[in-house]
Amino acid sequence: LNYQVPRTRKEIFETLVKGLQRLEYRGYDSAGIAVDGPSKTTSDRNNHSICLIKKTGKVKALDEELYKKDSLNLDEELCTHFGIAHTRWATHGEPSALNSHPHRSDKDNEFVVIHNGIITNYKELKKYLINKGYEFESETDTEVIPKLIKYVYDNRENDSITFSKLVERVIKQLEGAFALVFKSRHFPGEAVATRLVSQHKEEVHEKNSRNRADSSSAINSVGDGRAVEFYFASDASAIIEHTNKVLYMEDDDIAVVTGGKLSIHRMNRQAGEDPVRAIMTLQMELKQIMKGNFDAFMQKEIFEQPESVVNTMRGRICFDTKKVVLGGLKDHLKEIKRCRRLIMIGCGTSFHAAVATRQILEELTELPVMVELASDFLDRITPVFRDDVCFFISQSGETADTLMALRYCKERGALTVGVTNTVGSSICRETDCGVHINAGPEIGVASTKAYTSQFVSLIMFGLMMSEDRLSLQKRREEIINSLKMLPELIKKVLSLDEKIKAIANELYQQRSLLVMGRGFNYATCLEGALKIKEITYMHSEGILAGELKHGPLALVDKHMPVIMIIMRDACYTKCQNALQQVTARSGRPIIICCQDDTELTKNAYQTIELPQTVDCLQGILSVIPLQLMSFHLAVLRGYDVDFPRNLAKSVTVE
Ligand code: G6P
Repeated sequence: LNYQVPRTRKEIFETLVKGLQRLEYRGYDSAGIAVDGPSKTTSDRNNHSICLIKKTGKVKALDEELYKKDSLNLDEELCTHFGIAHTRWATHGEPSALNSHPHRSDKDNEFVVIHNGIITNYKELKKYLINKGYEFESETDTEVIPKLIKYVYDNRENDSITFSKLVERVIKQLEGAFALVFKSRHFPGEAVATRLVSQHKEEVHEKNSRNRADSSSAINSVGDGRAVEFYFASDASAIIEHTNKVLYMEDDDIAVVTGGKLSIHRMNRQAGEDPVRAIMTLQMELKQIMKGNFDAFMQKEIFEQPESVVNTMRGRICFDTKKVVLGGLKDHLKEIKRCRRLIMIGCGTSFHAAVATRQILEELTELPVMVELASDFLDRITPVFRDDVCFFISQSGETADTLMALRYCKERGALTVGVTNTVGSSICRETDCGVHINAGPEIGVASTKAYTSQFVSLIMFGLMMSEDRLSLQKRREEIINSLKMLPELIKKVLSLDEKIKAIANELYQQRSLLVMGRGFNYATCLEGALKIKEITYMHSEGILAGELKHGPLALVDKHMPVIMIIMRDACYTKCQNALQQVTARSGRPIIICCQDDTELTKNAYQTIELPQTVDCLQGILSVIPLQLMSFHLAVLRGYDVDFPRNLAKSVTVE
């Protein structure tokens, strides 16, 4: 929304499209936009029209579509204007223009809506509205919302009803988790946005009050100077080039912009209870979310790791005194030390960061450590107690499964700790305390630098917990000294890029790729295989070398490429056994090992030799060749590295 300075329709398109492009990494199978249509000469109430343009594929396809329509009058200047735009990642209904957002109330576009999240009772609402004569054009859950608001509008008791009141009435009927933005032909120049998690009453009983997750926080920004502009976005990267002043909406907030003013009120508020939301200043810079000289965000982020791990450690480790302080946890340290167990919860790569650090955390904290996939943890209705400490690891801080697990643990009285990369995200805000991993914005769908920063953050937590344990001082010192060296060692690993590319050249036409290892490097196998699956679409499995003879060995023959991670640590001999089992079946192993390990290079088809570090940090170095390998494989196979099919960066639905 812009007040005071006129903008052409073309400029409005450009602003919205650019915002979408910055968010494209979150969901990208289709996109859509709604803006005010060209003015007509009449001055009646129906003078205002909304034009809606939607397209499958990337934002670029939508962008091209906008300029094909001459009737849109691109040069028309508008003083106050409200436009909405959305990229979709399909949950209900295939990716198509019809299923993409904004959704509309009717052919005249009286109300249009964009939605992140899920409406769980949409089937009942749809049935009701169909009975009332509404015709649906998509297979989405979202479409019930514009239809419902039109129904409420058409049946209003008086003409003075406000836009926000209408929205309030609609959302009272919705169940699920959602962030919504509404635009209407009847309320030109007015914006209403809301964010909510609602529950079905019975479900609260039956499912032990398990909440459903909200999709995303809405942000709006306040400009200054001559122009006053307001933005709502599900992610700061969409608006950072316009402003760094944001405020985060909470669940149950309804935000309205009308007449150049923003107001936020609560659903079901008592009189005089309007919330005060603090305006925050974001530190993120635009250049952090640009690709720079790299071909893909993922590649850029892999190569950023020497700096991103430094940013994770910055101000937290004193290498001289061997003191480690995580500011967000220090007030809770006593309580954490007294706990029954630590439970580490996450999805995808974030889960792997928990697997990677479990052993060292057990060693340094002397506590039992459980690692859990958020979805499975909830499926099992896992017992959680007041004296448990639960960690929620999430790059985005918005993953629905992780967020639901957080709410589940909170209700059971456990202390909740967030480990996220997104300041102000839902997980940050809802946990009792936490650590920001400070890796900088991660755009590539396949997570890379966030993984190594999560890894370092969890190690720092272990170091902080063990500060007063005499018997662990030597170990701590070894780890802290190695952390200091880490950026240099990462650089050395990155310098192997050409060699890794050459190996990828030999492998890219294969159908499968196994990755094997154990101990501190097992997580690297899981994470490496995930990277390969995500962006190369090759079948890949991370195999615990100890399990080789219990099944996976049957897959090995002279055709099957096997990557083996064999580092000089306590598992070295056992890994060598696994190697022999592979070579005995004519397998051709590509071995990731420590520099100058002549013993291993003899038996290898190819080797990738890495600098050696302390055992518990070796996984940070061993994952990088696999990040690079998956990147090169994907490029050679002709795929778009940053936009793998069917995947989204933040999965904000269950
Ligand atoms: C999605 C992404 C993965 C990511 C996972 C967890 O599946 O595609 O790359 O690891 O979500 O995301 P989070 O933001 O919670 O770390």
